Formats: sequence, structure tokens, C-alpha cells
Amino acid sequence: MAIAFKQETFRDDFSYRNSPENIRRFPFPFDRDEYMYSVNMEPHVKGQKNTIYESLIDVDEHYVAEMRDRALVLKEDPLRYQALPHMMSAQWDTLELLMEEQAAGYPEHFTLTKNGDQWRWINRPLGIDDTFTFGDTSTLPYEPFEYITRQAQGDFCIVDQRDGNLWMDAGMVTTQADWSLDFDIGMNFMEWHGPVPLAHQIGVFDRALKFLLNLQQGKPTRRFNWTMTINPRLDTSPENYPKWGPDRTTVTPENVGEKVHLRVELQSLWRLPRSNAILFVIRCYLMNMDELVTVPKWARRFPRVLRTLPPELIDYKGLTRFRETTIDWLSTYDDGAPTSPGI
Ligand code: HEM
Repeated sequence: MAIAFKQETFRDDFSYRNSPENIRRFPFPFDRDEYMYSVNMEPHVKGQKNTIYESLIDVDEHYVAEMRDRALVLKEDPLRYQALPHMMSAQWDTLELLMEEQAAGYPEHFTLTKNGDQWRWINRPLGIDDTFTFGDTSTLPYEPFEYITRQAQGDFCIVDQRDGNLWMDAGMVTTQADWSLDFDIGMNFMEWHGPVPLAHQIGVFDRALKFLLNLQQGKPTRRFNWTMTINPRLDTSPENYPKWGPDRTTVTPENVGEKVHLRVELQSLWRLPRSNAILFVIRCYLMNMDELVTVPKWARRFPRVLRTLPPELIDYKGLTRFRETTIDWLSTYDDGAPTSPGI
């Protein structure tokens, strides 16, 4: 069924909202009443209809508005897209993967036709119909990775595998939770994860790296990460901190429902066929507290998670200024009933 794409904003008047159908497919990431980092990876396989797993590259009602926001970010700051010269083969791998997955998942919106190396790509929501030569950058208006990630929801990193490590050598990063591609470009797995508290000590990154170095083509894997954002702002980058950092001080008991958002990242990792690089997709979902409490089991669980969060995570995720106000507001929806693991 065709998706009804919304006209909405992630800045200024912040008109972004989820429809009731989109709330039902929201990936609430907590399977118990407390949270700690872990190597929470599972195969990225298709799931049921009307869930975010219906297609492996998820497109939803926010697609067109998100692509418009990405274009605005890139206009102000072109360094949000970067690719080192040796990543060209991985760029074409990524273009192929995203075109094929979007066309397979949403044939009414996207069509890919291959005739040898002559490819035609139709993107109806964005009004694009381009014919180009696969492998020949001069036939596209942008580099292949930039071209396709201007047309795909989520942030994207391509990591190169060499010397028993992964290196962040390309990225399109405009919807990030307070980290910078320009700062991290060229770093390895342990270096870019340097600021994360507690996880290094409990061996999360050692095990995750080992797992990823053996990732097989055709067997993508996924995990969730989460944080919280004030206002439905996609671009919470260090570069723009003066624009969004002060928002954290504006939360009051009266505006929690509308202002405070749970921000969930569905992260999927794909081994690429020609380059042997790995594509890391960070697909961001935002939901405000008014929307969250429409699902009673989420309303019950989320304040419990927030209340028991380790102090290091509260600090790292930037929740200090509004966590207690949010817990107080949410607690009126928690009837104290026990919850089952896994829902
Ligand atoms: C945070 C990138 C894979 C676990 C981060 C950050 C980046 C990043 C840039 C932010 C660090 C900062 O504060 O500056 C990546 C890339 C990956 C990858 C490119 C794939 C190649 C993984 C995997 C795991 C993991 C497989 C899991 C076990 C984490 C955790 C955080 C983090 C726990 C902290 C998140 C939070 O509390 O909000 N990652 N990561 N990452 N990453 Fe990864």
C-alpha cells in the first residue's frame, strides 16, 4: 500500500508527529524494566507486516520530510558527508544495496531497472528519474554514496576492514545523537567508541568488534540504541550544539508530553560484496511522551528504565537536566503492575 508522506519539520516550528499507525510500529527498545549496554545483536531478517521489519531498509511516513531536512543540513555544512578516496567501490556497493532494498520493499514508490551497467532509478516521492552508468561517477549528480543517501532515511557510515579493525572512512551523518563524522572520520572502532562509558570495561566493544570482523555477506545483523531528545530535532550534532543544547533546560511539568522525545536507533550492519567494507545504517525513530503513553505497557516501563539508569549513562546520554521531571510526569501512568520480560 502506498505510504502517505507527511509535510512536517524537524526544526523551527517542529511540526513532526507520528500517526497512530506509526506509533504502533515504533520500535520501543526495552525488554525489561532496566537498561545496561550489551552486545545486543541479532540477525537482521524480515518480520511481520506493519512493523519496522517489513522491509530490511525501512521507509515510513516521515521519508520526504527527513530527506528535505537532510538537504538543509548539507547546504549549511557539506562536511556532514565525507568519503575517503579508497572508498569508491564501497560507495557503489552501497548505492546498489539501498536501491535494491528500497525498490523491493516499496515497488509503488521506487523502481530500479538494470540493463548491463546502464541503470535507471525512479524515486517517485522525491520526483527523481535518473539513468546512469553503474561504476561511472560522472553519470550521477553526486558521488554514488551521497546520491543514494540523500534518498534514504537514517544516517550511514561505511567502515573499511583492514589490520584486524574497522575504520570509519565514509559517512552521511545529518541525524546524529551528538557525535561528529568530521571528528571521527579515519578513526578505528575502539577510537570512535572512546567516549562511551562502562561498555569498554565490560568487554562489549571487544566482543562486538570480533563479531563484526566475521560478518558474512547476505547475513546482515542489527541492534538497537536509544537516547532522548528535546523537541523532534533530527540534527543534534556537536557542530550545532548552541542551537539545541539549551533546549534541555526548557522542560517543565506542563510541556514534557510534547517536548520530550524517546529517540531510538535501529542499527543494521551489512557486509558489502565488492569492497568487503561494512555499511552501518542508523535509522532514527522519534516519539514524544504524549505519543508513548498511548501504549500502556510502554508508559509503565519507560519511567522504571529511567529511574534505574546508571549515573554514567544518564550523564553520557545528556539526560541530567530533564530526567526527573520526565519520570515524575510518566509515573502518573505507571500503576505499579509487574511487567513481563520481552514486551
Ligand atoms: C556509540 C559508531 C557498532 C555500541 C557510538 C558512537 C558512534 C558509534 C559514532 C558515538 C560515540 C561518541 O559518543 O562520540 C558505530 C559504528 C559501528 C558501531 C560506525 C559499526 C561499525 C557498534 C556495535 C555496538 C556498539 C556493534 C555493540 C555492541 C555502542 C554503544 C554506544 C555507541 C553502547 C553508546 C550509545 C549511547 O549510549 O547512546 N557508536 N558503532 N556500536 N556504540 Fe557504536
